[in-house]
Amino acid sequence: MILIKLGGSIITNKEKPLTPNRNSIKRIATSLKNVNEPLVIIHGGGSFGHYWSVKYDMHTKPEKHEAKGISVVKNSMMELNSIVLESFSASGLKPYCLPPSAFMISDKPLINKVREIPKIAKTGLTPISFGDVMWHGKNKFYILSGDRIMGILSKLLHPRLAIFVTNVDGVYSDMKNKKLLNEITVEKPTISKVSMDVTGGMSRKIKEAFNISKHGTDVFFVNGNIPKRITNAINDKSFEGTIFRG
Ligand code: IPE
Repeated sequence: MILIKLGGSIITNKEKPLTPNRNSIKRIATSLKNVNEPLVIIHGGGSFGHYWSVKYDMHTKPEKHEAKGISVVKNSMMELNSIVLESFSASGLKPYCLPPSAFMISDKPLINKVREIPKIAKTGLTPISFGDVMWHGKNKFYILSGDRIMGILSKLLHPRLAIFVTNVDGVYSDMKNKKLLNEITVEKPTISKVSMDVTGGMSRKIKEAFNISKHGTDVFFVNGNIPKRITNAINDKSFEGTIFRG
């Protein structure tokens, strides 16, 4: 089984609020159609969920929030998810919507439910989950990122590969010169301050990726603008991107 995170940067236009990148979703779905291995997909929030969670000051820490904000973030993720589902269907895949509330309670995975996910994937369906706003209990809600879902599912399911698809070539040591790190073997790679400033989101992904690789799964970061790189990574062909060896 292969776990794939489609980052908000590749499935939406992050510069423009509430704008899906339909072309990019379609190109990725079309290339995934040719994969002969069970897939589980997670997608991010980009200019949908992220946009609203920033507007309503909602974070990963459980807190009491305005009902309006919670509702708007949730609705926007449902909207983005249906766009992804439709595109996957149109490309000949059989997506199966799996909101994180189907396998998590509060901030904990429901282990028995999680263990069923690969079985669903083996029937020919493609389970699709996504970052979401989650009920934490005691009137608190929190933002669960798609990256965190990657970590949670990898730890329990040990996929053959975990792939993070973004709109850049992989992890750069330096944003100015765009120097790509081909392989990362340490938890805190030397990434220039410039790069950390520009890609705050990337440092979170790196932490998650490192933890996944520690549990034995190879983790790839690839550019989804060139979908062939995703299938090349899956088929062990000339790999272009960054790898965290499991
Ligand atoms: C964000 O998920 C989910 C919400 C804000 C509701 P991610 O954090 O995984 O999204 P991207 O991929 O960075 O956009």
